[in-house]
Amino acid sequence: MTESDAETLRERGGVRGGRLPGETLRDVIARELTSARRRTALLTDSVDEPDLVRQHSPLMSPLVWDLAHVANQEELWLLREVGGQEPMHPEIDPIYDAFEHPRSERPTLPLLPPAQARAYGHEVRGRVLDLLERSRFGGTRLLGDGFAFGMIAQHEVQHDETMLVTHQIRAGAPVLTGAAPGPAPADALRLPSEVLVPGGPFTMGTSTEPWALDNERPAHTVDVAPFFIDTTPVTCAAYAEFIADGGYDDPRWWTAAGWEHRQRAGLAGPMYWSRDGGQWVRRVFGQTEPVRPEEPVLHVCWYEADAYARWAGRRLPSEAEWEKAARFDPVTGLSRRYPWGNADVDGELANLGQQFLRPAPAGSYPAGAAPCGARQLIGDVWEWTSSDFLPYPGFSAWPYREYSEVFFGPQYKVLRGGSFAVSPVACRGTFRNWDYPIRRQIFAGFRTARSGLAESA
Ligand SMILES: [Fe+2]
Repeated sequence: MTESDAETLRERGGVRGGRLPGETLRDVIARELTSARRRTALLTDSVDEPDLVRQHSPLMSPLVWDLAHVANQEELWLLREVGGQEPMHPEIDPIYDAFEHPRSERPTLPLLPPAQARAYGHEVRGRVLDLLERSRFGGTRLLGDGFAFGMIAQHEVQHDETMLVTHQIRAGAPVLTGAAPGPAPADALRLPSEVLVPGGPFTMGTSTEPWALDNERPAHTVDVAPFFIDTTPVTCAAYAEFIADGGYDDPRWWTAAGWEHRQRAGLAGPMYWSRDGGQWVRRVFGQTEPVRPEEPVLHVCWYEADAYARWAGRRLPSEAEWEKAARFDPVTGLSRRYPWGNADVDGELANLGQQFLRPAPAGSYPAGAAPCGARQLIGDVWEWTSSDFLPYPGFSAWPYREYSEVFFGPQYKVLRGGSFAVSPVACRGTFRNWDYPIRRQIFAGFRTARSGLAESA
């Protein structure tokens, strides 16, 4: 990319933010695919063969399944759908279809051994880069703005995040490096604990972000009452106070389903936390360390986040509140791509992309603050919201129902904002994630909110 291309991109609001000339788009796609593959290779080359084929938890696939599944989806969508090519190995399609086999079943399948899985991925990628050279980005909806390529880059980095979860679960000596701390907070101690987001309508979702997925669409107006939201995600120190105050033993703070789950699962603190004498320690990618009080709490389920909020006299923000806090610019009345504006992520703005294998201390990234003053809405930890995963008005499934539509319903809660494990290509102010309210292995924390109506009356 030339200097002037880069300049043009900044003005347009980032490499993924608007229509790009074909050559530039080709470069962006190649760069995203290559960077995703580099991470996939690191996550799968860093363990030995027995570790690659083993299932580390019934909640997760063997890493070697992720490896070939990524290649299989790339072949299906890019080589076959876009390129019109014949299937390379049609007999393996069912093995790598996530809907045919739940994760718990996958170790029993005749999976490609590691060397073959790697060779398959390599061959697919070579053909995809050839296809990319020949592609014109228009004519069909799949090819417009390079969507299918963008979807596949996002798919691979989402599996990189899933594979990092598997690394956190796996027993044994540490194999990953990069656990250096994120940047220190500039002025955390002087930050107000909460910020006000004004009431009124704002634009939620998007109809213009080229690589946005179907559940982020279309843009629509939502009227949100004024509310206060935590300036930063809830810290380990604050969460430890909830535990010390008997929060896990008091049903007043829990919903009926949450209390039932807390008892059945024996929850007593975040996943990976344990007591060592008088202090909390936690296991992080194979190493045990003291819990860092200033870091956002990680590995709590929705029920725990919801109980903490009630104990604190607050509540979880709704999905619309979260997005308004992250995107609404009261000066222009418009919704931004990111809290800081429309420019792409860089290392000064947010902790993303597995650069650091942990969240940065609460209050970090002042340059990435939203107009309301809230920090770390993007990156660091996924944030549970109070909302069920539901379609926006005017939703239509695309390019396949199994991406979002089959998951809509009250059984899933929405998470927002991405974590340190998420690549920038799959993270933006409109991006929606969802999971069961009992899930704790994901890199999720939360922040709390309260109504601002009393104060504004
Ligand atoms: Fe997948």
